[in-house]
Amino acid sequence: MSLSLIAKNIKESITLKLNEKFAVMKAKGDPVIHLGGGEPKTKAPIDAVVSAAALLNSGEVRYAPADGNPALKKSIIRYTEEWYGRTPGVLNVMASNGAKQAIMVALQAILNPQEEVIFPAPYWVSYTEMVKMCGGIPVPVVPEDGSFCPTIEEIERYVTSYTKAVIINSPNNPSGAVYPESFIAEIVEFCERKGIYLIIDDIYHRLLFDGKKTINAWNYVKDKSENSKMIIINGVSKMYAMTGFRIGWAVGSKKVISAMAILQGHQTSGPSIIQQQAAVGALNGVQSCVESLRLTLENNRDVMLGVLRSFDGIKVTPPDGTFYCFPDFSAYEKNSIKLSQLLLDKVQVLTVPGSEFGMEGHLRLSTCGTIKDITEGLERIKWVLDPNSPNELYIGERKLVRDWL
Ligand SMILES: Cc1ncc(COP(=O)(O)O)c(C=O)c1O
Repeated sequence: MSLSLIAKNIKESITLKLNEKFAVMKAKGDPVIHLGGGEPKTKAPIDAVVSAAALLNSGEVRYAPADGNPALKKSIIRYTEEWYGRTPGVLNVMASNGAKQAIMVALQAILNPQEEVIFPAPYWVSYTEMVKMCGGIPVPVVPEDGSFCPTIEEIERYVTSYTKAVIINSPNNPSGAVYPESFIAEIVEFCERKGIYLIIDDIYHRLLFDGKKTINAWNYVKDKSENSKMIIINGVSKMYAMTGFRIGWAVGSKKVISAMAILQGHQTSGPSIIQQQAAVGALNGVQSCVESLRLTLENNRDVMLGVLRSFDGIKVTPPDGTFYCFPDFSAYEKNSIKLSQLLLDKVQVLTVPGSEFGMEGHLRLSTCGTIKDITEGLERIKWVLDPNSPNELYIGERKLVRDWL
């Protein structure tokens, strides 16, 4: 049976695949620990639930406009005023089925076949595949100094006449790094000067640690008119623990947003009106839920760092935000797919191989779980990797015996 070239060329989302694997293992009763997850475990804000439930109870559940419901667009405008100091018009805003769809339709709206999109590595797994789905060419830039943020000179080196856009995601999935403000200023200036689109993926922008402040790329835009090629992406999935609601959005020039809305209108129509109503509840409701999630994540990060530092040979850069940590395990095993598989096979701990994020030797570990998940998961990993570990490990009633290393 023949498939399209695009379908043959696109990889499955590793993170979604691991979630499925976890569900299957859990259902079988396996004592599996998921350190690969990308969603907070806290409940959705009550304001979101009440708001959606009220609409559901009315029974008036209809199509939404392709670019989003007026009530949600109003909330997004208010959010943009508060967090970006910018007052977009209703035609500058579009709601989507998650930030994922917002990024996808933005790329579809701006990319021609063979055009290139640059982004720093490590990067979110979907950027490469989304660009390819548009017929474009993903161009990851791996920082030469082994850090998680390239310099502007390194980015410039990858710019060609085919470069159409740059994607910046800070705080970053998977590294948790917040790029220096000077880098954000430089990249904004550079893209403006070159006439390159700049997609700012801000999905984690309030999940910051150690007193770090949200960096607002819009502050550095010189031409704030309709000519601006900055597209800001955000959503409720991560900060409000509403991953399953699938609401994200884009803020950009009217021309780009209107093209995006036309594309989205033919793909999925506007996002479900019930989910949009939930997002309105979250954005307009009590905001302490975001701070309380942030505090939990900061504490979980500290616990994770504490245990990781007891490993010999692991290089770990403390994450500045998000719910990920991206240690370098290459002292133990350079091939991250092999290492991740070993950990799953031997001690049933799920991790995401760094190669999927464009950085070999690392594993993405998630701090979304409970403290018990984090400490027990890491202890199991240590048992597998440390040649000085005792010969046996008990997981519940099960006795494991080292037969490797
Ligand atoms: C960097 C980044 N951007 C966008 C998304 C998509 O978020 P959403 O759930 O809103 O589609 C994710 C989700 O993992 C992400 O990590």
